[in-house]
Amino acid sequence: MVEKSCLLKMEGVSKSFPGVKALKDVTFTLNRGEVHVLMGENGAGKSTLMKVLAGLYNRDAGRILLNGHDVAFHSPSEAIAAGISMIHQELMPIPHLTVAENIYLGREPVTFLRTIDRRKLEAMTRELFERLHLNIDPWSIMKDLSVAEMQMVEIAKATSWNSDIIIMDEPTSAITDQEVENLFRIIRQLKNEGSGIIYISHKMDEIFEIGDIITVFRDGEYVQTCPIKGLERSRLISMMVGREIQDIFPKTECAIADTILEVKDLTLPGIFEKLSFQLHRGEILGIAGLMGAGRTELVETLFGIRKKSEGRIIKDGKAIIITSPSDAIANGFAIVSEDRKDVGLVLKMSVGRNLTLTTLKNYTFWGQFMQEKREHVSIQDQIRRLSIKTAGEGQQVSTLSGGNQQKVVIGKWLLSNPDILIMDEPTRGIDVAAKAEIHKMICSLACEGKGIILISSELPEIIGMSDRVLVMHEGQITGELGRNDFTQECIMHMATGQCLED
Ligand SMILES: Nc1ncnc2c1ncn2[C@@H]1O[C@H](COP(=O)(O)OP(=O)(O)OP(=O)(O)O)[C@@H](O)[C@H]1O
Ligand SMILES: [Mg+2]
Repeated sequence: MVEKSCLLKMEGVSKSFPGVKALKDVTFTLNRGEVHVLMGENGAGKSTLMKVLAGLYNRDAGRILLNGHDVAFHSPSEAIAAGISMIHQELMPIPHLTVAENIYLGREPVTFLRTIDRRKLEAMTRELFERLHLNIDPWSIMKDLSVAEMQMVEIAKATSWNSDIIIMDEPTSAITDQEVENLFRIIRQLKNEGSGIIYISHKMDEIFEIGDIITVFRDGEYVQTCPIKGLERSRLISMMVGREIQDIFPKTECAIADTILEVKDLTLPGIFEKLSFQLHRGEILGIAGLMGAGRTELVETLFGIRKKSEGRIIKDGKAIIITSPSDAIANGFAIVSEDRKDVGLVLKMSVGRNLTLTTLKNYTFWGQFMQEKREHVSIQDQIRRLSIKTAGEGQQVSTLSGGNQQKVVIGKWLLSNPDILIMDEPTRGIDVAAKAEIHKMICSLACEGKGIILISSELPEIIGMSDRVLVMHEGQITGELGRNDFTQECIMHMATGQCLED
């Protein structure tokens, strides 16, 4: 064990943005060889404090002591030079560059002619990936990777600096259990080497597995710090939320009626072939599988984001043609997508306009005049329903906290009043209290007779919410389980392609 010594002390840190005091006089301490979890509801100020530490934001007040010395960083590169690196909650890859270039940007090895030494760059990347057990081609173009792969690259990049302090802001929001195990192995290794890790996550299981000590923030204020060993979950939740949450998965049983959607022989070349399944009114259909199983590709094909080569989609008994997202929307589909920056949000627009973006025509008359009052009422209603933490509906959506951005995506699709709601990792980055609210909302939509398709890499969420689960492995449906039959083991078995005999 490495001797515990204080790496970092933050005292009395405050930070305001227009209309919101994000941090009020907060304290945070990190020791060597320790995983310090930072927890709190969406908008509590976790990412803001880390951005202050990593040189992205200037603080308004307070002190930061690094190894006992007062510091203030005015740019990320200053923080990195002082031994602080950060995995950001919002991935920020440079899409048209390769994986290797993304990782070593600005510090590429050069030849004696001062050109980039590509061979060395490749070797460095391969060596880094080997250490992390990552199987990604260093020369892939970043934008061609899945969100999970991008997240792994981001993790690799943060560890490549050999920093003393590594900040991980929701590093596992898009990756599955296997990669999480991998990440935890790396974290333990970094710990043993004497680094300090600051770990932000809303996933309880993870925190109890990897964390040593925890600090909780609420509404920009410091609440408490305590060791994780011996901490009760319910106690942690009430530290965060200020009250207890009774039911983590508030599943309500509702009548499952006619088939609303039938998919026959759907094929996306190279990804999946001849997939067939049905979805019923009132049903929540879970889709489980490991990273790369084809789940996201399947729902993106249903929604017209990807082009199928074969197969039929039948809604309410009628064959329909979907070749683009607007066809899908016109046919009553909605998708809360895995990557909220893609079909999810227009980052430069306001919270309000993002909420009404897909349903704008409902707020116009004669097709051109905006009925701003009606729009405003819908927006306010949605902000309240989902308790979106915002300074006002005019706030630019990119400046909301990660979890609150996700709530805007959900709110936008709820407003479109779809018949079929596809949710790909809908509660990614959402805190426990809001998660329970969103789960309740999904259940009541099902009870209204809508069909719901739910993808989640959190098995407890799939198990807690679904009426039926399809398990995918390498582009095939390897199993189907009814609510009485699914257990974590059984789903994992099918997800790894081993069929269960019983
Ligand atoms: N650049 C910014 N401009 C304006 N407001 C901001 C900005 N960055 C953060 N905020 C506000 O500061 C508050 C704290 O946000 P922060 O991102 O730190 O929350 P968080 O604890 O990381 O939440 P989450 O769990 O959702 O990621 C929020 O109300 C957010 O809207
Ligand atoms: Mg955050």
